[in-house]
Amino acid sequence: ADIYAPERLNSRGWDLHNTHDVDQLEAARLPYQNHVWDLRSKGGEQVDVFDPAAPQVLVGKLTYMTEAQTHEAIARAVSWNVSAAERGDVLRKAANLYEAHFGELFALLAREAGKTAMDAVGELREAVDFLRYYAARSVELSAPARGIFTCISPWNFPLAIFTGQIAGALAAGNGVLAKPAEATTLISLRSTELLHEAGVPADVLQLLPGRGDVVGKALSSDARIDGICFTGSTATAQSINRAMAANVAPHAPLIAETGGLNAMIVDSTALPEQAVRDIVASAFQSAGQRCSALRVLYVQQDVADKMLTMLYGAMDELRVGAPWDLATDIGPAIDAAAKAKIDAHIKIAQHEGRLLHQVSVPSEGHFVAPSVIRVNGISDLREEIFGPVLHVATFAASDLMRVMADINATGYGLTFGMHSRIDDRIALASRTVNAGNIYINRNQIGAVVGSQPFGGEGMSGTGPKAGGPNYVARFTKPEARVIAH
Ligand code: NAD
Ligand code: ALA
Repeated sequence: ADIYAPERLNSRGWDLHNTHDVDQLEAARLPYQNHVWDLRSKGGEQVDVFDPAAPQVLVGKLTYMTEAQTHEAIARAVSWNVSAAERGDVLRKAANLYEAHFGELFALLAREAGKTAMDAVGELREAVDFLRYYAARSVELSAPARGIFTCISPWNFPLAIFTGQIAGALAAGNGVLAKPAEATTLISLRSTELLHEAGVPADVLQLLPGRGDVVGKALSSDARIDGICFTGSTATAQSINRAMAANVAPHAPLIAETGGLNAMIVDSTALPEQAVRDIVASAFQSAGQRCSALRVLYVQQDVADKMLTMLYGAMDELRVGAPWDLATDIGPAIDAAAKAKIDAHIKIAQHEGRLLHQVSVPSEGHFVAPSVIRVNGISDLREEIFGPVLHVATFAASDLMRVMADINATGYGLTFGMHSRIDDRIALASRTVNAGNIYINRNQIGAVVGSQPFGGEGMSGTGPKAGGPNYVARFTKPEARVIAH
């Protein structure tokens, strides 16, 4: 096989250090700077969408579906009965259409989801990679589709995860009922239009915008559904699991990718500049709104003062502001409720004298100040804090086994990072810490489709890993055909 064939390569994307790419990106998204997307349809609740960085600015209008419409959509759903080669061609065409519409998609990612330019480039690349990678997997399948899949996605990767789930289910030949996150419905509406334009039939892929407890609930408690692919919080996955057990066909699979309480260990042999760069990216990029983001840093006590002083210096260089501005490093929280929850967590730490450092942010918009909070260890945290908040604990070299046991005791297992120059210690941590994705001497975010399959274990996910070779097969019925001659 040609390893340089276009379908085998990751999307090139846009290089924000290259003036040609930057000029192209700016020109393509400019027409959408003040655009208001009117994507209303017949249905239930009418919703106005506002910019999380400028909450008085209208971005679009849309309509949520009712429970009755959801039942009608389930009744209409059909699987995709064309050859694997045809499905692959349509998904590759969709990938090309996504790339061709990059200006509008970048604008929507900034204005509806608060994504900085760097994050938007990463999102579009990942979505395109999922389409091409799963298209290539479709022709390798030996088993048939399961039937109709429900795909329920989160707001924090409104293009990449939304598209990846759908592409995985479609590549195997399933029909899809897709329920996007409420906060990022405009992006899902436009990307579904592109998938239909590429040739996915309307009844094979139906988008059902709406509330989780209305549309999502109806889609995960109907016996006509043959499987559910969910990405979001652990609590929602657990409630879907219960609804499925009560109502959906017995043994229909639940693919669930959920939250994490991710740690990084930095020992005294780490290179400080490199460690600080990777801590900043892991904890604060995307305003910490990544499931993979670093939440608890364990730094060896001998180097803690030096490392933290350097970290605070690096944080002070971060520019928090409007995502439309190419110089912005950190954008807003997704909405007022998310901001209030994270701010309340920071406030408690401040009250208890544990707030070690904080960066200033604009007063307008749903911005949360990137913050560093002292903790005794990961067990001080009861739940995932989904924002730009880094918790720091120190450890002595003799405590390493206890630190790793504490990390495992959370029950989560999504990402883990380590900075060290001691090979035996790296090997020990890699086999001791329970985490789906382990990153050594680099940051712990931004898994690349095809080469870094992504997904957690324990309370962080069921597998199979997204962007890996086993993903699409999970959407098929395992069958063995034995023919005697
Ligand atoms: P969420 O669980 O609140 O919502 C996710 C989706 O579930 C939304 O579309 C929502 O409308 C829907 N939903 C809510 N209640 C439902 C119900 N009763 N039945 C069916 N569907 C329902 O999560 P979120 O806030 O959108 O996303 C952030 C979370 O997602 C974080 O916990 C993050 O760690 C996790 N996440 C995990 C991964 C991963 O790959 N492991 C990736 C991205 C995000
Ligand atoms: N796949 C995303 C990352 O690795 C969640 O950051």
